[in-house]
Amino acid sequence: MPFQKSDDKVIIQDGNENSVEVYFYGATVTSWITAGKERLFLSKNAILNGTKAIRGGIPLVFPQFGKAEDSDAPTAALPQHGFARNSKWEFLEGKDGDNEVTGIFGLSPSSVPTELYQKWPFPFKLLYTVTLRPQSLSTFISVKNEGSEAFDFHTLLHTYFSIPDISTLKIHNLANNVFIDKVANGARDTETREVITVNGEVDRVYEDVNAEAVLVQYGDGSGIRVKRIGVKDVVVWNQWEAKAAAMSDFGDDEYKEMICVELGNVSKYVHLAPGETWEGGQELSVI
Ligand code: BG6
Repeated sequence: MPFQKSDDKVIIQDGNENSVEVYFYGATVTSWITAGKERLFLSKNAILNGTKAIRGGIPLVFPQFGKAEDSDAPTAALPQHGFARNSKWEFLEGKDGDNEVTGIFGLSPSSVPTELYQKWPFPFKLLYTVTLRPQSLSTFISVKNEGSEAFDFHTLLHTYFSIPDISTLKIHNLANNVFIDKVANGARDTETREVITVNGEVDRVYEDVNAEAVLVQYGDGSGIRVKRIGVKDVVVWNQWEAKAAAMSDFGDDEYKEMICVELGNVSKYVHLAPGETWEGGQELSVI
């Protein structure tokens, strides 16, 4: 059976040691196993009962990344990262194809907690398509404007990668891109490094990046190729020691075992006219 559904999640398997687990809460992918190996980070303190966004895996950001900077923005009243990660999605369909297994999840306003939806009351339909192949995982979002006025949104696949050791991590292919440094009060700069290493807090939004894919590489040379499909920006985040210690749903030392490389459209809003649909996503493949 490729789809094992329980009350709170579905596990999608291809019968060849590859699987992906998706919680209905947030449609959060919490595990991706290829060749018997876990590729995503999920905190040992993650809250999985639907009372807080899940700390790890791939939470979905929509319709606001972070908090809106402009207090007049229609998303200004929303909490950090919007409401998609705090809503219970529907498992709409499972497809067992040739060499791939797909789960499709949906979110409509009626499933968003009322107190959140009333802060951004635009009619929309989100579809989230998760496709497992032997060496890769694709996750795609589509956003449809089902109302009679345009709306603006951000969206992001907030992927937490499980890494053996932050001290040997290398991130490739972000050179020559402009970034906003959230650790330096939003200062703008241009990345000069061909290979990015992380030895302190990092929280950067690389805008409109030039490379098709970012490589997340571990000390032994293995890693994940993170390919952009229809999305422009890449966020790199590791909260490091002090912020990790201050987070209730994150282990004090876990910052050494994870890196977030997040693909989406967050430096500028996507403007969506009535009746229109926007689509974008990522393909993660093992290197
Ligand atoms: C990242 C942001 O995408 O998400 C960070 O760039 C933020 O600024 C991080 O701290 C985690 O956010 P949250 O709301 O899940 O704690």
